[in-house]
Amino acid sequence: RRAKLLLGVRDDLKLPLSAVAVLKERYLLRDDHGRVAESTGEMMDRVARHVAQAEEAWSPGSAQRWVEAFSRSLRRLEFLPNSPTLMNAGTSLGLLSGCVVLPLEDSLVSIFGTLGHAALLHQAGAGTGYSFSRLRPRGDAVASTGGAASGPVSFLSVFDAAADVLAQGGRRRGASMAVLDVSHPDIVDFVQAKAAGGLEHFNVSVAVSDRFMRAVLRGTGHRLVNPRTGKAVARIDATELFDRICRAAWRSGDPGLLFLDRINQANPLPSSGRIEATNPCGEVPLLPYESCNLASLNLARFISGGQVDFERLRAAVWLAVRFLDDVIDVSRYPIRELERPAHDSRKVGLGVMGLAELLAVLGIPYDSEPAIRLAGRVLAVIEKEAHQASAELAAQRGPFPLYQHSRYAGQGTRPLRNAQLTSIAPTGTISLIAGTTSGIEPMFALSYVRHILGRQLPEVNPHFERLARDRGFWSDQLRAELDRTGMVRQIPHVPPDVRTAFVTALEIPPEWHLKMQAAVQRHVDAAVAKTINLPEQATAADIRAIYLAAWQARVKGITVYRYGARPGQVLTLADPG
Ligand code: CDP
Repeated sequence: RRAKLLLGVRDDLKLPLSAVAVLKERYLLRDDHGRVAESTGEMMDRVARHVAQAEEAWSPGSAQRWVEAFSRSLRRLEFLPNSPTLMNAGTSLGLLSGCVVLPLEDSLVSIFGTLGHAALLHQAGAGTGYSFSRLRPRGDAVASTGGAASGPVSFLSVFDAAADVLAQGGRRRGASMAVLDVSHPDIVDFVQAKAAGGLEHFNVSVAVSDRFMRAVLRGTGHRLVNPRTGKAVARIDATELFDRICRAAWRSGDPGLLFLDRINQANPLPSSGRIEATNPCGEVPLLPYESCNLASLNLARFISGGQVDFERLRAAVWLAVRFLDDVIDVSRYPIRELERPAHDSRKVGLGVMGLAELLAVLGIPYDSEPAIRLAGRVLAVIEKEAHQASAELAAQRGPFPLYQHSRYAGQGTRPLRNAQLTSIAPTGTISLIAGTTSGIEPMFALSYVRHILGRQLPEVNPHFERLARDRGFWSDQLRAELDRTGMVRQIPHVPPDVRTAFVTALEIPPEWHLKMQAAVQRHVDAAVAKTINLPEQATAADIRAIYLAAWQARVKGITVYRYGARPGQVLTLADPG
């Protein structure tokens, strides 16, 4: 089979133009002269070969069989690992994990030690998350100098400045997450930190407790506590603080909320500590120095005869779990501190992409009960099979070393190889490579401009275009109307079933976004990366309502984005005028 040549790249996988552009720029190996040295399919082979090496330790001589199995599935785009695995497998940058959480204790040694570690991790393309909650507040005493502490927000700017410098050299700018507990005395500064400008490399989230959320609903007081002394330093109105959070989120999309009580109820290893932070996009709550390898099943590849092909999906789950378990063993950690925790709990995160494409192809509107039910069912199957696959691996390779201390022990179930199995990543780049919709997000628009690597690529949703051509309603006029609004719900000459099935993010009421997130979360071990999209004219009260509803829906965190709130969106409508 001859590979087609696209942008000078041998593209044997027949990927979309924007995918080839990204792969060429950042993923494909280059030779000493800087020339691209592998085809798109060879990239998948490189990843498969590298990861399958782990198989030799369990069954000498078996690796080749797994190279073939992994490679076949990757080449078919049935699942893809997170970007660092695609970029770094088989190279000198051996880190394959997408996300890491690092500790921040209340000392300069800890803060700047972690800053140094973060630099190495970002260089390898991993994202980092931190809780700033243990740092003493601004103005607090510093014993060694007799001076006043500068507080979490100023250290946060140092981390951001460092990320800025690093971003210029790396292939992928590792994003970061900063979390601050809602009881920290500097919480108001933190809440407003992003809206004030800067902190481009950070997502920020406020860690809220159930107690705080109840105080918001009752309109009662909330205590701010100095983490150094454990003493309450102020009592403020919970509702007022919550409204500040919502107003800041209205302006910039940040802060999001992290529901730490919910996260810790699901913590598989409570004896190892309370979880205080997540990775940058929120889908993986982790303890300090834990890391996580992600992979996502491309749901659009599991449709046969107008239905989800559960048989093939199950087989792919087993293969992907094995792949992820192998990744842990062949990943090389740029800092020693990551090694032990990775092997002790063996957390991985198998998720999905292409949910919206699956729904559209099956003719099911995203904002409908059948869509919520189908998504829940698909994730329930993935979760069940992933756990069975992990139990099977545990029978062959042994359970994860901390198994006896985990909340699974003594439950009468078979031991697991991995303390955590599923997680819904945003799949920002890998969905682009696979040519499908990202994570569990609805389609952004049916016609849009992708701002990528300094280029502006106009795109029309390929499924919509194909369907419109097949059913004979594609026209230049339709294309022009699509470019104008990005949506089809209000275009009269498009058949009604197509109009409802191809619904886009901004047409979907926020409560349906949340319903989808909650339905999926019920069948996911870790968390779900999801953005609740709001139209430009949404108000702070709308955000307040959705933040409260999110807590009540028992999701682990919530992120909103009001269209246009930030300059430099990745996707914009083709012709906003
Ligand atoms: O699609 P891809 O594998 O590139 O990544 P993703 O699914 O969009 O993001 C998965 C995780 O990778 C995020 O939650 C972050 O932890 C990390 N990430 C990052 O550090 N920097 C980015 N620019 C994108 C993602």
